[in-house]
Amino acid sequence: MKTIVEKVAVSFSYPVVFTRSVFDPDNRTLLDTLTKKYATSQKSRVLVVVDAGLVKATKGLLQQIETYFSIYDKRLSLVHPPLTVTGGEAVKTDFDELWKVIDLIQETHLDRHGFVVVVGGGAVQDMTGFAASIAHRGLRIVRIPTTVLSQDDAGIGVKNGMDYAGCKNFLGTFAPPFAVINDSEFLKTLKDEAWISGVAEAFKVAIIKDKAFFNGLCKHAAAIRKRDLAVMEQVVYRTAELHLKHIMTSGDPFETGSARPLDFGHWAAHRMESMSGYRLTHGFAVSVGICLDSTYAFLKGLISDAERQAILKGMSECGLPVWSPLLTRKDKNGNLEILAGLDQFREHLGGDLCVTLPAPIGARLELHSMDHAVIEEAIALLKPKSRKGKSE
Ligand SMILES: NC(=O)c1ccc[n+]([C@@H]2O[C@H](COP(=O)([O-])OP(=O)(O)OC[C@H]3O[C@@H](n4cnc5c(N)ncnc54)[C@H](O)[C@@H]3O)[C@@H](O)[C@H]2O)c1
Ligand SMILES: [Zn+2]
Repeated sequence: MKTIVEKVAVSFSYPVVFTRSVFDPDNRTLLDTLTKKYATSQKSRVLVVVDAGLVKATKGLLQQIETYFSIYDKRLSLVHPPLTVTGGEAVKTDFDELWKVIDLIQETHLDRHGFVVVVGGGAVQDMTGFAASIAHRGLRIVRIPTTVLSQDDAGIGVKNGMDYAGCKNFLGTFAPPFAVINDSEFLKTLKDEAWISGVAEAFKVAIIKDKAFFNGLCKHAAAIRKRDLAVMEQVVYRTAELHLKHIMTSGDPFETGSARPLDFGHWAAHRMESMSGYRLTHGFAVSVGICLDSTYAFLKGLISDAERQAILKGMSECGLPVWSPLLTRKDKNGNLEILAGLDQFREHLGGDLCVTLPAPIGARLELHSMDHAVIEEAIALLKPKSRKGKSE
């Protein structure tokens, strides 16, 4: 028997730029991003994909994008008018939307030196990122995320994906973006739910990595809830920074191992999202998932009751849910449906269960099994106390 073994080291790096009014012609961030690297005498060819919910909320956006590209038409070439795709989780289950992007890449002959610029929430980022990563085995993608959650988490990392066979993110790839541009102006038009959803991911990283940030989130809960943009810009910046630092320095950017600290609270969250038929948003599901796992951590003696109460209070003062009736829903055999989420999560990780819990706030511990009886106890403890028998 003969074996050939060669080793290759691949490094990657991309900027996450924070700016305002990215499509204002005076703002050259996008122009510089699309022309700086790999500069040639040729124009950069660009396909822009835009979230329909964003288009609806932002008057004149498509025209603004076309104007930006026409002003810089000596260096940029828009290969097609901006393509609008469905906004929200529906785009991750609708494969017609995925094919729309892939077909347009093919019809416009966009090659590996061309760019896909995706402007929208986390769901549109995930779908378009997946399309761009499989066409020609990967085009350059520039992400312009437009929700809090996509600016502080979904849009800045290396993952993308679609939901399939009732399973969140069953299909997808790891594909680092070429660049990310976070424009806080977009956050102004978000509905309250989309504004606050992304704060769940801020609590997630704060609780397991940065106690001072956690205290800051609790302190500024009222301002966050009242839509203070300056405060939210700081929340987004710090959350993005913690996420990026973890991805780039944990030694496992493409998640080959089982440890997944950034998925704290997510085993239950993903399960609740699919149990709800994706009506429960990712951020709200994560919020409840964090509260459940923090309560489990308390019952296991990893955090104090005061810490558990601080987590629940901080999150609910921001306007995040700390409970969902889905936690007590049972299947026809009388089993709690949520518990199936543990097996699905284990399979998603690649075989070994690894659940991250706070121990204490600001630090973390990885567990390789979860005690079903303690989960049930945690659910009972989390459940709002009934008033005249009315509890859900
Ligand atoms: N790839 C990753 O690493 C990663 C990480 C976390 C979450 N995610 C995924 O992100 C998705 C959730 O993303 P999300 O929270 O951004 O929600 P979303 O993408 O579902 O968007 C929420 C709603 O806001 C609309 N919208 C977008 N921008 C807007 C704006 N500026 N003004 C008004 N409306 C706007 C959308 O059309 C949609 O209706 C989930 O699918 C989740 O799985 C991915
Ligand atoms: Zn998440």
